[in-house]
Amino acid sequence: MIKRTLLGSLLLAAALGAAAQQPIYQDPTQPLEKRVDDALSRMTTAEKIAVIHAQSKFCSAGVPRLGIPELWMTDGPHGIRPEVLWDEWDQAGWSNDSCTAFPALTCLAATWNPDMSTLYGRSIGEEARYRGKDVLLGPGVNIYRTPLGGRNFEYMGEDPYLSSRMVVPYIQGVQQNGVAACVKHFALNNQEAYRNQYNAQLDDRALYEIYLPAFHAAVTEGHAWAIMPAYNLYERQHLAENKRLLNDILRGEWKFDGVAISDWGAVHNTPRTVTQGVDMEFGTATDGLRAGAKNAYDSYYLAQPYLKLIQEGVFSTKELDEKVRRVLRLGFRTAMNYAKPMGSMNSPEHSAAARRIGDEGIVLLKNDGNLLPLNLENHPNILVVGENAIKMMTVGGGSSSLKARYEISPLEGLKQRIGTQGQVSYVRGYVGDVGGSYNGVHSGQDLSDSRTPEQLQAEAVEAATKADYVIFVGGLNKADHQDCEGTDRLSLALPYGQDKLISALAKANHHLVVVNISGNAVAMPWVKEVPAIMQGWYLGSETGHALADVLTGDVNPSGHLPFTFPQSLNDVGAHRLGEYPGRATELERMKQPGHQGDTLDVRYNEGIFVGYRFADKERITPLFPFGHGLSYTTFVFSRPTVSQSTMTADGSLTVRLTVTNTGQRTGEEVVQLYISDKKSALPRPIKELKGFRKVRLDPGKSQEVSFTIDRTALSYFDDQAHQWVAEPGDFEALVGASAADIRGKVKFALQ
Ligand code: GLC
Repeated sequence: MIKRTLLGSLLLAAALGAAAQQPIYQDPTQPLEKRVDDALSRMTTAEKIAVIHAQSKFCSAGVPRLGIPELWMTDGPHGIRPEVLWDEWDQAGWSNDSCTAFPALTCLAATWNPDMSTLYGRSIGEEARYRGKDVLLGPGVNIYRTPLGGRNFEYMGEDPYLSSRMVVPYIQGVQQNGVAACVKHFALNNQEAYRNQYNAQLDDRALYEIYLPAFHAAVTEGHAWAIMPAYNLYERQHLAENKRLLNDILRGEWKFDGVAISDWGAVHNTPRTVTQGVDMEFGTATDGLRAGAKNAYDSYYLAQPYLKLIQEGVFSTKELDEKVRRVLRLGFRTAMNYAKPMGSMNSPEHSAAARRIGDEGIVLLKNDGNLLPLNLENHPNILVVGENAIKMMTVGGGSSSLKARYEISPLEGLKQRIGTQGQVSYVRGYVGDVGGSYNGVHSGQDLSDSRTPEQLQAEAVEAATKADYVIFVGGLNKADHQDCEGTDRLSLALPYGQDKLISALAKANHHLVVVNISGNAVAMPWVKEVPAIMQGWYLGSETGHALADVLTGDVNPSGHLPFTFPQSLNDVGAHRLGEYPGRATELERMKQPGHQGDTLDVRYNEGIFVGYRFADKERITPLFPFGHGLSYTTFVFSRPTVSQSTMTADGSLTVRLTVTNTGQRTGEEVVQLYISDKKSALPRPIKELKGFRKVRLDPGKSQEVSFTIDRTALSYFDDQAHQWVAEPGDFEALVGASAADIRGKVKFALQ
């Protein structure tokens, strides 16, 4: 007994001794900032320089001498990108890097359910963690200014409040895995056209009320550990070196303690990046890269050129130490966070999550005569038409392109679900993008078809006359100019002659359902001819299962639009009042030799009047309004009441109403709260979204819904005083099921 005790105390002494020698930065029980200070104090200037820029396509160096690990980045917002080669965009060809493809973020926003954001963030964070990644390069929350925006499918729609509420849980979900979310692209990436050259010009009201709130929420509520400035310019400074947005607002006003990671190739200058730019430089293409020289990464703007300026005494290490602090803090939160969960990959839970988010995000836009859900008993013969019913969509779109472990197509999903209950047949209908590889990911599909559009249409119309239902699956497809990074759409119209085909199908069979797969609004000239229309989004691995769930009624649709579907581009502020993609005369000039690289000013003349804010102001009736979404049941709202008729300056007020399911089946409704300022010193939108709640109700059941608001819900940004102002006076609370379906109003005053 004594011997054992003696041995035990010897071991304990040794352990304590070792602990005593363990450096603070390696001691996980030490406070984060102490570990940062300790690690920084041990690093040489060369080591500090090494950690603030890339050493490969997607990783930055650690400090081998101190055991400080490298940091690994990965795209993207919808799933974990397949490995590329050390120095190239080409696929590394690994066999262990297929992933679960989750729905695009427009679909997540369309759920109007923050619990789905938590589920999404946690699931994608688990996959990033399992793949050994420290930073997920997402989510994106740029505001949907124009339906032509090439990356809108990666973002959360037109409204700053909806985007703010939906991005916070996603970030928290990702980061609980010990993986940093890197919210992007900060800020004003509202078009892909001239994305490296355009200079967004807008007033501070639009900046603070429309374009910053989602980033503000991501940083101050989501506590994002990283952020990615955009390629474009603001106040004629690239966002990667933008004093106002990075130093004054992000680090100053918002107290951001994370890392600003450049977009790939977005850094253009050393001194300005040192004093007012990003903390880590990625993706800069240098001569070395092209020539394959070994010192390619050393010639990055934040590498040898920066070290040289320090050695010449142009800079002290003050800015360098601040950048390194942030990088070390990121490292302790991620790569050196030894308490983080283990993650998981391609699990049934992740498939279920992707399907659930798809189920909740699909939007039923129109359902005349309750054509949907499909009545398989009496009408078992289903014809599916359209390339998007079979085309792989988890590829394409740019950096968010994925190598999904599997993808259930709409056709496959319907066949699996309907099985022997009916017959599902398919005709192509139209030929769109037959390309088979994207960013090096090969779809493996050969969609080539030599028939003419007339032959394809004739076949489809013929088949349609014999079917009980025709389900057309079309839309866009993440090819160039069809919802793809680096290119905007060239028109609001559907491509590949789909409009003509849809009209022909509508004549051939009035039981026509159109499923539009896209991340943007599209024109629908045939909208009156088609009884049922569904917005399908890019739904990822579980596409076919989610669409079949909703079409057959296994799931009652509950998605609501996160952006307006305009009748035409002239109904959009950016196109009617604003400039998009820029001023014609300046675009002309840029075509001249020697002007290709010019900066292009884009004036956001529409200001705060974006989306439904513009439709309300101009009394425009959209094709489908912001917040719109039907169900297979119906809901009634009671008149809303307020807890008191006057809100005190520092008080709050509660808006209450009762929602009742007056239909025959369980469903979910999204109750939306808009606030209207009846009189204001500065122009304001007629109403603005300031609350929403998704409620699930069985038939005949009711539930009280309440929103407690305070002055922040009444405020606008006074850009002269540079502060948020809630003016005393009359307000109105409006509750509705969309921006154009207001079910009740109640007045109140701010003292
Ligand atoms: C791309 C995108 C950015 C992405 C990065 C790395 O150009 O703009 O969203 O995370 O480069 O692929």
